[in-house]
Amino acid sequence: MTGGPDSVVSRETQSDAELDDDFSAPYSSLSAGDTPIAVAAHRASQVLHPTGASLPKPAHRRVFTIANQKGGVGKTTTAVNLASALAVQGLRVLVVDLDPQGNASTALGVQHTAGTPSSYELLLGEVTAAEAVQQSPHNERLFCIPATIDLAGAEIELVSMVAREGRLKTALSEAKLADINADYVLIDCPPSLGLLTVNALVAAKEVLIPIQCEYYALEGVGQLLRNIELVQSHLNPELHVSTVLLTMYDGRTKLADQVAEEVRAHFGDTVLRSVIPRSVKVSEAPGYGMTVLDYDPGSRGAMSYMDAGRELAARAASEQEREG
Ligand SMILES: Nc1ncnc2c1ncn2[C@@H]1O[C@H](COP(=O)(O)OP(=O)(O)OP(=O)(O)O)[C@@H](O)[C@H]1O
Ligand SMILES: [Mg+2]
Repeated sequence: MTGGPDSVVSRETQSDAELDDDFSAPYSSLSAGDTPIAVAAHRASQVLHPTGASLPKPAHRRVFTIANQKGGVGKTTTAVNLASALAVQGLRVLVVDLDPQGNASTALGVQHTAGTPSSYELLLGEVTAAEAVQQSPHNERLFCIPATIDLAGAEIELVSMVAREGRLKTALSEAKLADINADYVLIDCPPSLGLLTVNALVAAKEVLIPIQCEYYALEGVGQLLRNIELVQSHLNPELHVSTVLLTMYDGRTKLADQVAEEVRAHFGDTVLRSVIPRSVKVSEAPGYGMTVLDYDPGSRGAMSYMDAGRELAARAASEQEREG
């Protein structure tokens, strides 16, 4: 497999000149005389037609909740780009947008105007997953249950409902997802620990925590972990933090390295070796209704999400061992 641990880790220590959309190993096999356009085209073709073809399908569908109640740490960016990376590499992926902001729906290019069947109606039991799902226009294996502004009222509406914490789980149950046949389900959460996030934590087995390589990176993470423990002991015994992903890493700053070290010391092996760099291309892509893999497949941002996707898929085996 390409993108072994060492080559991936090397991105954490690259020099200033390599930052943003320049890129080095593991894909390049280019000669020094290649023009920038040739280099970009070569990278793009390697992302769009990855060598080694498809990633292994997990034995069972893997359902992740992407959570961190801190705002703007890269939850949505990770949900859509990781989903796209897995889909580009042959897997079927469903993104459930559970944030009334609807940013994941925007980035995946699916319709989410008020009244569109969405995660709101899904939680209320008014539509099935199959009725709310849309295919992303950029990849036939990538699907999204969108969020509309209607979801903004759901936190309050859910309070008085029967089985209010388990509604998403019921809606995403095996049978109801059969038509979509997703290998991976990624649930994008709002930046709060309210009932929407609790529904996501009850519906998933795995939690993926994106952590921004910035000051106060671990602020609030303790509270998130306590909430995960509460959900685990009362509502979903299988829930666990399987994955931590470092985002918006800026190799020019010492701080980014310090944060990365601190997070690795705290979370150990759950932290993916792939690190997502801060990249203008990543932040521009949603404005075009695209993931960075569609917007600029040769960019470092796209490459790093491809790496993260491969690592995630490779870990499926250890997850299965865990299940015994
Ligand atoms: N790797 C990156 N490089 C540059 N900008 C990024 C990167 N990742 C995310 N961003 C930008 O940072 C901002 C916050 O990212 P994002 O929306 O994914 O965070 P979030 O955790 O989902 O936020 P919220 O808590 O509001 O839901 C966005 O403008 C996004 O485009
Ligand atoms: Mg978000």
